[in-house]
Amino acid sequence: MTLTLTTAGESHGPALVAIVAGLPAGLVLERAAIEEDLRRRQRGYGRSPRQQIETDEVEVLAGLRHGRTLGTPLALVVRNRDHKNWTWGMSPWPPEGEPEGKGKEPVTLPRPGHADLAGVMKYGLSDVRDALERASARHTAAIVAAGAVAKALLGEIGVRVGSTVVTADLERRIDEARAERDTVGGVVEVRAARVPPGLGSYATKEERLDARLAWALMGTQAVKGVEVGEGFGLASLRGSEAHDEILRDEGGYRRETNRAGGIEGGVSNGEEVVVRAAMKPLPTLMKPLRSADLETGEPAQALVERSDVAAVEALAVVAEACVSFELARAAREKFGGDALADFVAAWQAYVERIPWSAR
Ligand SMILES: Cc1cc2nc3c(=O)[nH]c(=O)nc-3n(C[C@H](O)[C@H](O)[C@H](O)COP(=O)(O)O)c2cc1C
Repeated sequence: MTLTLTTAGESHGPALVAIVAGLPAGLVLERAAIEEDLRRRQRGYGRSPRQQIETDEVEVLAGLRHGRTLGTPLALVVRNRDHKNWTWGMSPWPPEGEPEGKGKEPVTLPRPGHADLAGVMKYGLSDVRDALERASARHTAAIVAAGAVAKALLGEIGVRVGSTVVTADLERRIDEARAERDTVGGVVEVRAARVPPGLGSYATKEERLDARLAWALMGTQAVKGVEVGEGFGLASLRGSEAHDEILRDEGGYRRETNRAGGIEGGVSNGEEVVVRAAMKPLPTLMKPLRSADLETGEPAQALVERSDVAAVEALAVVAEACVSFELARAAREKFGGDALADFVAAWQAYVERIPWSAR
């Protein structure tokens, strides 16, 4: 038993879609909880005005009846409200009538740091829009919706996932960057409490929980570094300073430190799972960098399009969703069950067997 996520959708197309397969039947989903995470993704200092014109809402097309999962694929849809301004430019079928609205002119000025140039070369495109519409981070809305579902499942076995921005003084950095028509990045942290020992495995690379979390985070737009626990910092420590000594009391095994970030040997060890992701500065600059026109080959300035100055707070919410989904997937593999009650019963029996008190 595993959990899978497939997403589809372009930034200014009709909608984003997430299909989550492998959920047990009987899980209660709350629309308000999913939409609260969608809103958290849209908030944050430094976001573009698009976030004010669109308040994301979730629709469910399949897999849910009267608020409970059916054990069948769950199909979630987040409409792009801004699509109304792009009906010609982003029409899935050949558009009828005179060109109108946004997206009617081809984009030929690739932005350094975005998928624009690599995308047009790879797919044989002439309009950068055909690449950027999917490469853009808009589709993280679908990831966040799926992550909220994963959090509901994790909640059934007591796991709590939260995120914060680690980079200090971010608002000042954003204000300064905006004044200079520039952008900034930053670092976010996700913590998952009460993760039982034994999620993931050292048996194969693919099963390692640290590898799966790193994959999920690195698979997010603009993430260029991932750390588990103290991560890069461990490289300069001695072994005696780096590892978390094992203590035992009546509650079970415990550690006084958690430099490993709750994962040893690719397996959760019962401590809090702690991961960080580093986000590069966003590539769309209001003061554009040098580029070359795809049509003429002449030197030019890169595309300027409505854009965030920073999206670090949004990344924290997306990273939380990615980590939640991977933990839920590992939990489905370990505890199985077609019905939610079977999944929870397997978890209960397991945590009663092992000397662990949740942290
Ligand atoms: C939540 C979020 C919002 C983003 N918003 C923007 C944006 O407004 N403008 C922009 O140029 N890049 C934005 N990005 C980053 C680009 O999507 C990303 O840099 C681009 O797709 C190239 O991918 P890469 O950075 O992984 O190489 C955002 C990323 C995230 C995670």
